[in-house]
Amino acid sequence: MGEVVLGIETSCDETSVGVTEGVRLLGLATWSQMVHSRYGGVVPELAAREHVIRIVSVLEEALSRAGLGLEEVGAIACTRGPGLIGALMVGSLFGRGLAQVLGKPFISVNHLHGHLLTPLFGDPDLAFPYLCLLASGGHTMLVMVWDPLKVEVLGWTLDDAAGEAFDKAGVLLGLPYPAGPHIDRLAQGGDLGRYRLRAPQVSGFHFSFSGIKTAFLNLVKRLRREGGWSLIEKEKAHLAASVQSAIVDHLVSRLRKAVKQYRPERIAIVGGVSANSYFRRCAAGLAREFGIQFVAPPLSLCTDNGGMIALAGYFKWRSGRVGSLTDSPCARLPLEEFI
Ligand code: KG4
Ligand code: ZN
Repeated sequence: MGEVVLGIETSCDETSVGVTEGVRLLGLATWSQMVHSRYGGVVPELAAREHVIRIVSVLEEALSRAGLGLEEVGAIACTRGPGLIGALMVGSLFGRGLAQVLGKPFISVNHLHGHLLTPLFGDPDLAFPYLCLLASGGHTMLVMVWDPLKVEVLGWTLDDAAGEAFDKAGVLLGLPYPAGPHIDRLAQGGDLGRYRLRAPQVSGFHFSFSGIKTAFLNLVKRLRREGGWSLIEKEKAHLAASVQSAIVDHLVSRLRKAVKQYRPERIAIVGGVSANSYFRRCAAGLAREFGIQFVAPPLSLCTDNGGMIALAGYFKWRSGRVGSLTDSPCARLPLEEFI
């Protein structure tokens, strides 16, 4: 039990604790906050309060699923940022308190670093380096993961994140937040060719979703003018399929460009949007086309979770990168400099 790490994640709207041993997940408990669903997005103040209310029971549940007691934990890892400052503060104070009381090392983790390592939960023998597309509600970036502690950011979004584009499109279709999974499900019964949204034109390996968002808004407005809300209801599946394919095709086009340039032996997709069934199919198809390996985290570990924080914490701990109890949370935390 020398390598057991407890990971705490509270950067946004999931209160989550994971317990790992090496790269193996022993137990995970996540409270997905429902209070935000009616607001169409996360309300920071409500998120922080919910974390305070849930964190202790989530910790107990994670330990019980792992079949371990706190005394068997070797180190405490905690998300330092990026994220909502009030939400981060709750997890960070809780984690630092635990580490102090237990006399265990405290490890600060960059939330994005956690996401980038989640393919290891799907394939513990995964070799490095891999080219990784991270697409979540707050971030969209293309990253070369050279080894567990060295990453290079190749491209990023110039405006919205991919998950944000899904969520904003969902608001227009009257879907609850977060809309990504609803759009995924609806799109399965839709025709993605019925409405075509123009592909964004962006240089390098960067992303842009604001054009798709505006085009979709205009499309929905036009249909409402022509046939009212009942027409939107009738066309919902086709609309979902169209916006999903516009978002995913843009993601995959950047991945394709980077595969051609860097010729990696393996590619991965991570983050909440990597749970999308169409995205997984397209990325797997791309890998097949180039004869390379494709990995993605198990579906339940695509979205924010304490397991990925424990995993990143494990690699930092192993290499002596132990943090300090004075590490305070940061709403903005650059990935390459803070890993
Ligand atoms: O990684 P994550 O849990 O949180 C951030 O770090 O931002 O990602 C949440 C995002 C939300 O925008 C949600 O709509 C999106 O991931 N998402 C999906 C799917 N499942 C979650 N988007 C598309 N299809 C899905 N199946
Ligand atoms: Zn995340």
